[in-house]
Amino acid sequence: MFKKDFLWGSASAAYQIEGGANLDGKGPSIWDQYSKVPGNTFKDTTGEVAIDFYHKFEEDILLMKEQGLKAYRFSISWSRILPNGSGEVNEKGLEFYDKVIDTLITNDIEPLVTIYHWDLPAALQEKYGGWESRQIVEDFVNYATILFERYKDKVQYWITLNEQNIYTGLGYLYELHPPKVSDYQRFITTNHHAFLANALTISEFRKIIPNGQIGPSFAYGPEYPKSNHPTDVIAAENAAEMLSYLWMDVYCKGKYPRYFLKMVEKYGYYIPFAPGDDQILTSGLPDFMGLNYYQSATFQNPERERASEQQHENTVNNQSTVKIHDELFTRTANNQLAVTDWGWTIDPNGLRVALRRITSRYDLPILITENGLGAYDNLEVDGSIHDEYRIEYLRQHVKAIDLAIEDGCEVLGYCTWSFQDLFSWLNGYAKRYGFIYIDRDEESEKELKRYKKDSFYWYKQVIESNGQNLDSK
Ligand code: BG6
Repeated sequence: MFKKDFLWGSASAAYQIEGGANLDGKGPSIWDQYSKVPGNTFKDTTGEVAIDFYHKFEEDILLMKEQGLKAYRFSISWSRILPNGSGEVNEKGLEFYDKVIDTLITNDIEPLVTIYHWDLPAALQEKYGGWESRQIVEDFVNYATILFERYKDKVQYWITLNEQNIYTGLGYLYELHPPKVSDYQRFITTNHHAFLANALTISEFRKIIPNGQIGPSFAYGPEYPKSNHPTDVIAAENAAEMLSYLWMDVYCKGKYPRYFLKMVEKYGYYIPFAPGDDQILTSGLPDFMGLNYYQSATFQNPERERASEQQHENTVNNQSTVKIHDELFTRTANNQLAVTDWGWTIDPNGLRVALRRITSRYDLPILITENGLGAYDNLEVDGSIHDEYRIEYLRQHVKAIDLAIEDGCEVLGYCTWSFQDLFSWLNGYAKRYGFIYIDRDEESEKELKRYKKDSFYWYKQVIESNGQNLDSK
């Protein structure tokens, strides 16, 4: 049973929707630069115009209102606020978010603000290597503090970092995101700085918005063993430590898992700990775990048969392998589960597992900050989009949340990914997630017209019935 004030929401991120890449004093971000390099993204698409939320936010928010959305999660572009990452503040950048936040509030939609969704100011990458330098901690906290001061009376829910595991993994191990390198030591270093930035930001938040709630959003795919062979179980345990608990433990307990520390030592790496870091990490614990759930992940012992099927998850593929991971576990397909058009497993039970594991290990409320189905959609001549597959996906996941609540998990809200179709980092505009179809593709922006999909009406009814009526019309 969902609580009365359950936050039925939907989510997005600045670079994926805003466009207006060079407008009103915005500085370039690493994604503005990265997506311009041929070969980095699907069909060389960029978020330069994206879905033009920068100019169309009022139209979009009215659609949210029509749907009855209770909460909207969006991110703020750091380089709109601080074009150089630090130093001079761009008032015009803040004014844009003033308008977005005020329009949401006027329409009774709770703003959930993500401080960082991957679009680091390019100036900081150039100046000191971005997350690889400890200087980022101070600059990030400074940026976050500007937002807290500005919106302390308007925004109660904040997300610090979106999917630190994904942007550091894809950026520093798999060469798929900027800065496109593969180096486990650099990966550890960037993560340590991000942990410090996260914790110090939370500490600052407590002083400025004492009654608000804050936490990171973590991309969690609960780890399953491929078989009941005990060495597959160990491989899944290894994967859980290295791919999930590493982040969630530092966020929620303020310390690295013992197993990770052991592996760091065994493989000859180091965490760049400075005096006082322990204290910083334990003093900035979150109010909730933000959970981005798309799929579970299955592992087997690397010494047993290697995965025959290669996961094809993004339309831009990487070549890198990561030795430390390769020796501890092998990711493989789960032949019990269907997959999406992009090869992601469809596993609503996995969401229940994720909620249960987070609850047992950290005993915190959970805000589901992303969940959704990326699929090809077809715009009919009459302007309708019949996306029953998306409705079915969401329906099963809402049921799984309900069951997890019955199991004892405290779930604050559910944000689908996404409200509108948007720019998918490595999959252009073909992989659609929204309730609102945006008429654009990789080749042309067309008119960026908005169309309501069948799922728009379905979610409206889910919200109206507080999660009780999940039927299709
Ligand atoms: C999450 C991100 O990893 O998954 C989003 O927070 C992203 O920004 C979403 O778009 C879906 O991933 P993809 O690759 O299908 O766009």
